Amino acid sequence: MNTSPQRAPSINHTPIPGVTRVVAVASGKGGVGKSTVTVNLAHALTALGQQVGILDADIYGPSIPRMLGLETYLKPEIVEGKMLPPMAHAIRAMSMALITGDEAAVLRAPMITKALVQFLRLTQWDATRPCDILLVDLPPGTGDVTLSLAQNVKLDGVILVTTPQDVAVIDADKCASAFTKLQVPLLGVVENMSYFMDPAGQEHALFGAGGGMALAEKYRAPLLGRLPLDPAMGACADQGKNYVAEYADAEGARQMQAVARMLTSQN
Ligand SMILES: Nc1ncnc2c1ncn2[C@@H]1O[C@H](COP(=O)(O)OP(=O)(O)OP(=O)(O)O)[C@@H](O)[C@H]1O
Ligand SMILES: [Mg+2]
Repeated sequence: MNTSPQRAPSINHTPIPGVTRVVAVASGKGGVGKSTVTVNLAHALTALGQQVGILDADIYGPSIPRMLGLETYLKPEIVEGKMLPPMAHAIRAMSMALITGDEAAVLRAPMITKALVQFLRLTQWDATRPCDILLVDLPPGTGDVTLSLAQNVKLDGVILVTTPQDVAVIDADKCASAFTKLQVPLLGVVENMSYFMDPAGQEHALFGAGGGMALAEKYRAPLLGRLPLDPAMGACADQGKNYVAEYADAEGARQMQAVARMLTSQN
């Protein structure tokens, strides 16, 4: 066993040129809607006039290009050693899927960190205009990627996504505590899949109730929104459509607009 003292992690918190704020979207648990929340928040922020970028930090399971309707064969152009992030719906994005296309990324952990740092620091995030907010869509868990992200950029905050279900809340709780240890402010909790509204207007709490609020209260953070299960939200994600614009009156879109307003009021 190696008993030599561990090397202190190298911290690089120098600002990313042209990026005003960096906000992570995390959950702990997989499949609870981090990427969906990231993309819809990006749409809602864009509608408020913000210049938005998305860094897809899910290197093994990137879903941002698909959700934005970006063609993955459009490899980022490189100018003066920096990647120009492709744009869709006026949102700029960088993702492993833009590099590997439909192929799986077969990388060991140190390479994952390297890829993440390159996406952060070797992307020209302000290629067209300065970027007001860079959203980072994290993979599930609190492993290497989370740690590397916090070490390689000064995060202005993290938004936690959970479903109301205990198994999701327990993981989100661990995630919140990891970010607290990393001294990243918890901007709030978005509860996803909170209920399903049937055509008669009756709400059904399919995954229980109150989990998001309990988590928010525990960390003294606001509950930013409660998103219903909405088949249109899933369909828009698959088709790369802007749910917030196309279903502007749907409750899910209204909730995302409210989260975006909350974020911009913190500017
Ligand atoms: N409120 C919702 N209504 C309907 N479908 C939803 C909703 N939220 C998410 N989904 C669907 O649930 C699935 C999982 O969502 P998503 O990919 O955003 O989760 P994730 O937390 O990013 O997953 P992973 O941990 O794998 O990255 C997707 O098919 C998405 O379209
Ligand atoms: Mg995801």
